[in-house]
Amino acid sequence: MPPSVAKVTLSNSNCFSSTEGASILDSAKTAGLILEHSCRTGKCGVCKAKVINGDTCLIRPETSLSEEEISNGIILTCCRTAKSDLSLNISDLGDLGKIQILTLPSRIDSIEFVAQDIARIVLRLPPNNSFSCLAGQYINIIGPTGAHRSYSIANNFNSEGKIELQVRKIANGIMSQYWFNAAQVSDLLRFNGPHGTFFFRSKKERRIIFLATGTGIAPVKSMVEQFEQNPMLVKDKIIEIYWGNRTPEEFYWEPNFRKIEIAFNLILSRKNSDWKGMHGYVQDAALQINSNLEDAVVYASGSPIMVDSAKLLLTLNGLKEDCFFSDAFYSS
Ligand code: FES
Repeated sequence: MPPSVAKVTLSNSNCFSSTEGASILDSAKTAGLILEHSCRTGKCGVCKAKVINGDTCLIRPETSLSEEEISNGIILTCCRTAKSDLSLNISDLGDLGKIQILTLPSRIDSIEFVAQDIARIVLRLPPNNSFSCLAGQYINIIGPTGAHRSYSIANNFNSEGKIELQVRKIANGIMSQYWFNAAQVSDLLRFNGPHGTFFFRSKKERRIIFLATGTGIAPVKSMVEQFEQNPMLVKDKIIEIYWGNRTPEEFYWEPNFRKIEIAFNLILSRKNSDWKGMHGYVQDAALQINSNLEDAVVYASGSPIMVDSAKLLLTLNGLKEDCFFSDAFYSS
């Protein structure tokens, strides 16, 4: 018997067909609609939706849902398939659906070790490629051994056809072995993308707060480069970045823009008596400077612990739930 097909209706009235066995997230994508998502594996919780009507069936564990959310009819669209016609309380992300996900070849243009255990890799795409993305999205690199690893694009991709990645060395990581011991300029690497829904949203709130830990600064850098290229996007906005690392040596980037102003805050998580800046966690620092977050939009990227704690803390202090966007980096 062929798999059954169900109709999924979203809160903005867009609908798509979902094939039994395929995740709701993937079925939407097949139909050209992009739903909010990040990890695609049940870990980050970004693809949460409430089922208004209909039945779904689990195809992978919904690791990031609480018992309470499950009993309130919340599902993860990357973890469930439609069992009947469904209506969900979420909308698709409009124009993101027009961006094509491609598998393309690239060559390593440069490799630079910008801090201990952090490499800045620039990939060069073939001339006349049709790759496009939104600042903040990520790609999956297909390594020489066939392993796939996700990396945020760290620049505002443009007509130069270059993609910057910021790679942290992972002990015994297959791709780390390659990046830090074997990779050479001009190596050929394939990648697939762009992916993810971590990108700048035009919202009425005046304050734009970026929280990043470690290489989580990469998609933030991409977004603020986009602002520098098109300052009208952030006209009359206040932009703040809070970047956390364990040691001072890990701060390998600083904004240097002419058209936009950024309050750039470096936060050290480990005590260091020589450090003149703030100590602690990025979300605490953001709250220390902004006691009320009602007029803020927060973009958080980096460690899952930071992303979860930030969401909890900041929404308890006035941040609206729909003004928090995140990209949690899970190790493979
Ligand atoms: S939990 Fe579904 S995209 Fe992360």
